Amino acid sequence: MVPDLPSYECSCGRSYAPSVERWRCDCGGLLELPPVALTWNPRPGDHSLWRYEDAIPVPGRALSLGEGMTPLVEASLDGDESGVRLKIEYASPTGSFKDRGAVMLVTLARLLGATRLVADSSGNAGTAVAAYAARAGLAAEIFVPSGTSEKKLHQIRGHGSRVTVVDGSREDTAKAAAERVDATGAFYASHVYNPYFYEGTKTYALEVFEQLGEVAPATLVLPAGNGTLVLGAYLGFAGLRAAGLIDRLPRIVAVQAERCSPVASAFAAGSHHVEPVLPEATVAEGIAIAAPARGARMLEIVRETGGSVVTVSEDEIARSHAALAARGLWVEPTGAVAYAAVRRLRAEGSPFVEGDVVAPLCGSGLKASL
Ligand SMILES: Cc1ncc(COP(=O)(O)O)c(C=O)c1O
Ligand SMILES: [Zn+2]
Repeated sequence: MVPDLPSYECSCGRSYAPSVERWRCDCGGLLELPPVALTWNPRPGDHSLWRYEDAIPVPGRALSLGEGMTPLVEASLDGDESGVRLKIEYASPTGSFKDRGAVMLVTLARLLGATRLVADSSGNAGTAVAAYAARAGLAAEIFVPSGTSEKKLHQIRGHGSRVTVVDGSREDTAKAAAERVDATGAFYASHVYNPYFYEGTKTYALEVFEQLGEVAPATLVLPAGNGTLVLGAYLGFAGLRAAGLIDRLPRIVAVQAERCSPVASAFAAGSHHVEPVLPEATVAEGIAIAAPARGARMLEIVRETGGSVVTVSEDEIARSHAALAARGLWVEPTGAVAYAAVRRLRAEGSPFVEGDVVAPLCGSGLKASL
């Protein structure tokens, strides 16, 4: 029997019980979940994100690779970056934070009785869905744009998923995946469309809160492509505030690569929606999203929290990658983006990074190099 799962809702007023086929509204709109009341009851002895099972509307545990509860470390031991902490998301089972969301979607797919999954990805979400699908015994087909790191493709295939390389942009890849979903009735394990993904990335915030001694940092600096961590981290802290555990939200500073920065442009222009851009090639392949479907939501979140959207250059990414490596931290180029922004903003004396700052190191250097 399918347990009680929150229904999908659209801003047009329609709502839908989750099903294998449903991934967007009949009006074409994006599906959301109603705000979930957050019960703060971390399970002692559980060192995965299921420690927060009472805060997540998905009954899990049965499917887990031990995701979540990633280390939070000081950026520097010599005191020159005081208050800056890095969350080692690349220690996740498949090497990126996407495991947090993938475990939710594959758990949901299994509960709904799906047998086949489709996902599209710039790489890391695909590797995460492939691994959890394998764990759950479900078949998966992962669509990736040409140019995706060979190691990520190898990992996806290694887990037994079929890889379909789309000769085109990230947006063409998403379109090809959606067409396959509509043609075959497969479950669309999309980190862009399925709001259950954000119930997983939400645990990033819950962990930061707990690891800091049940307080919120002043600022979260987060990479932003499609914004799954921006949306999830916001959900987590908004839930903690609604539960009376904190009284203000951390500022959210979203970071994009200068060469593909549609959200930063919209923010700078004071706009409430994001115009697609023509991206230039960037080493930050994980955030090269020219037309983020939830861009308007990211803008709302950043503004509500008093944060900002900033960009970093290819050179800043490379220098931060090297600075991290020199401290024993080995990330893929996209994984250096948030830290690159922290370094620049601190050097400029920006008020956005005053006080305690937490930034994730999102993806492993074993998967892609500069
Ligand atoms: C290493 C890494 N960092 C950051 C991101 C950005 O995530 P999102 O597109 O959800 O904003 C990704 C996405 O694939 C990624 O792989
Ligand atoms: Zn609708």
